[in-house]
Amino acid sequence: MENPLLLLLFLLLIPSTSRSRPLKPLPITLSVADFGAAADGLRYDTAAIQSAIDSCPGQAPCHVTFPAPGKYLTATVFLKSGVQLKVEPGATILGGTRLEDYPRDSSRWYVVLAENATDVGIGGGGAVDGQAAEFVVREDPRKNVMVSWNQTGACLGDECRPRLIGFLGCTNVTVSNITLNQPAYWCWSRLTSVVDECLPVVGPVVFGTLCLHLVRSNNISIHDIAIYGDFNIPNNDGIDIEDSNNTVITRCHIDTGDDAICPKSSTGPVYNLTATNCWIRSKSSAIKLGSASWFDMKYFVFDNITIVDSHRGLAFQIRDGGNVSDIVFSNINISTRYYDSLWWGRAEPIYVTTCPRDSTSKEASISNVLFINITANSENGIFLSGSKGGLLRNLRFINMDITYRRFTSYAGGLLDYRPGCQELVKHRTAGMMMEHIEGLEVENVEMRWSNSKLENNPLEFKPSTVNNISFLNFHSGLYTSSKSNY
Ligand SMILES: *[C@@H]1O[C@H](CO)[C@@H](O)[C@H](O)[C@H]1NC(C)=O
Ligand SMILES: *[C@@H]1O[C@H](CO)[C@@H](O)[C@H](O)[C@H]1NC(C)=O
Ligand SMILES: *[C@@H]1O[C@H](CO)[C@@H](O)[C@H](O)[C@H]1NC(C)=O
Ligand SMILES: *[C@@H]1O[C@H](CO)[C@@H](O)[C@H](O)[C@H]1NC(C)=O
Ligand SMILES: *[C@@H]1O[C@H](CO)[C@@H](O)[C@H](O)[C@H]1NC(C)=O
Ligand SMILES: *[C@@H]1O[C@H](CO)[C@@H](O)[C@H](O)[C@H]1NC(C)=O
Ligand SMILES: *[C@@H]1O[C@H](CO)[C@@H](O)[C@H](O)[C@H]1NC(C)=O
Ligand SMILES: *[C@@H]1O[C@H](CO)[C@@H](O)[C@H](O)[C@H]1NC(C)=O
Ligand SMILES: *[C@@H]1O[C@H](CO)[C@@H](O)[C@H](O)[C@H]1NC(C)=O
Ligand SMILES: *[C@@H]1O[C@H](CO)[C@@H](O)[C@H](O)[C@H]1NC(C)=O
Ligand SMILES: *[C@@H]1O[C@H](CO)[C@@H](O)[C@H](O)[C@H]1NC(C)=O
Ligand SMILES: *[C@@H]1O[C@H](CO)[C@@H](O)[C@H](O)[C@H]1NC(C)=O
Repeated sequence: MENPLLLLLFLLLIPSTSRSRPLKPLPITLSVADFGAAADGLRYDTAAIQSAIDSCPGQAPCHVTFPAPGKYLTATVFLKSGVQLKVEPGATILGGTRLEDYPRDSSRWYVVLAENATDVGIGGGGAVDGQAAEFVVREDPRKNVMVSWNQTGACLGDECRPRLIGFLGCTNVTVSNITLNQPAYWCWSRLTSVVDECLPVVGPVVFGTLCLHLVRSNNISIHDIAIYGDFNIPNNDGIDIEDSNNTVITRCHIDTGDDAICPKSSTGPVYNLTATNCWIRSKSSAIKLGSASWFDMKYFVFDNITIVDSHRGLAFQIRDGGNVSDIVFSNINISTRYYDSLWWGRAEPIYVTTCPRDSTSKEASISNVLFINITANSENGIFLSGSKGGLLRNLRFINMDITYRRFTSYAGGLLDYRPGCQELVKHRTAGMMMEHIEGLEVENVEMRWSNSKLENNPLEFKPSTVNNISFLNFHSGLYTSSKSNY
């Protein structure tokens, strides 16, 4: 810094910037080891962990660390404002598997729970494990049969299992740099009478366990996380964002049986959700809006996402009257395939549907949705289906490269309206199946049919229900180039 003027400027700037912001106090660090945690994975460390959290002073930032190596078996622990759990690389929080490990009210069945707190989070490079395998009563290659705690009367139905991490009514939430393993269940059900997510299609098959659940929260940052759920366990969603605003998800790796990123609106709307730079594999939908959709969902961006081996790629299952609008999907590489139809999904790379769940449900619309720069390899076509009083409005598909090819032996030829509506309807496969749409723009779309098991049936409209459409530079044809070893 030879120029004295620059030096002066520099010296002037330093104090002024530090003065303009309130000094952020350094976080206090407390280790659960100092509160008597055994870390042997056998004895419960609940009291030690809770005492460490409760010893954090007031609103000042406080880090509660879980030293490595160690397995910290625990019943529900309750976070309070200002507390961040730091699980060190090599350390794991293990969720208890006994009913008495969880609060009485099933809506609070989480291993780590924050309620009405601000500036809370979890991270540190380690792991949280829900021990879902302990809840499997019978392995089933199609879909495992799960234990249910419903006999207690604490909840009804088949989905009574604890979840991993919940932020309910929180502001300024950070979940970063952590691996979430084997959750036993996803969510709650506001209306137990409503057939919600992933109920069995047939028989007494049971489901449950969600990893990360954000409910009625605001200002949420989720980054550098990995989620590994059992691929045969139903209802073990990755991240459910429910009735919450301003969520940013980036650099996530999610490999799980049920939906991976799933915004829902049960008691309030969901605004401003961004998910970028993620890798997803799901036996259900990789990204799914709904199906709980009583309120609006608005302003979502999904960018730079790789979806592999999934049952459904980008999905809207709007069923309860909440309107969805202003959603962008960009730079997404999708590969979808059939799995057992016990799982919702029929290998659709893109699935945009709105229909009333049942005779008591309201109709709702989905508008202003842009798909741009999408590559898809899939066993089934795109399904775009509004309903009479709930149209799909202004959908745009730009720069898409789609290859259709059958490679599993599951039967195709079904339109999947589940949950509710018309359920499953026999229909031949189409590249794009369209009904009840007002405003559709398709531009620079290449569609390839790469083997004889699929009829080249690029576009199908339900007559008189699709209006104001434009196709520009759309091409569909058999795929016979040198790349046909695909
Ligand atoms: C959180 O706030 C909600 C709404 O104000 C309230 O109903 C609930 O009892 C609170 N929960 C706790 C644990 O304080
Ligand atoms: C995760 O946490 C570990 C331990 O604190 C740290 O070494 C690592 O850099 C962190 N990684 C990221 C992506 O933040
Ligand atoms: C409880 O769950 C079992 C399966 O584990 C199911 O068969 C039964 O119907 C459920 N009972 C109630 C009351 O929900
Ligand atoms: C959330 O964090 C921001 C920035 O650190 C702060 O200004 C705001 O007051 C916090 N919100 C609450 C409710 O504490
Ligand atoms: C989200 O924003 C909407 C619209 O402003 C608001 O009605 C709702 O209460 C907000 N939700 C939360 C959890 O802050
Ligand atoms: C949300 O976070 C931003 C940025 O950190 C902050 O300015 C804002 O105050 C926060 N909002 C609330 C409601 O805390
Ligand atoms: C959504 O984000 C926009 C732009 O950042 C902001 O103006 C708006 O207040 C946010 N909405 C909610 C409900 O927080
Ligand atoms: C896209 O996401 C991947 C991680 O999945 C990352 O490695 C890559 O840098 C991202 N690309 C861009 C352009 O941000
Ligand atoms: C959805 O939009 C329709 C038509 O504008 C409106 O009647 C309905 O109230 C909206 N739904 C919600 C939950 O606001
Ligand atoms: C999409 O992913 C597949 C593997 O899942 C890969 O072979 C292909 O090159 C990718 N395409 C683009 C455009 O990134
Ligand atoms: C779509 O891809 C093109 C070409 O790779 C790129 O220039 C453009 O920025 C991308 N659009 C979006 C919205 O990411
Ligand atoms: C037709 O659809 C386009 C978008 O695809 C929209 O911009 C335009 O307003 C619609 N026109 C009419 C007459 O509805």
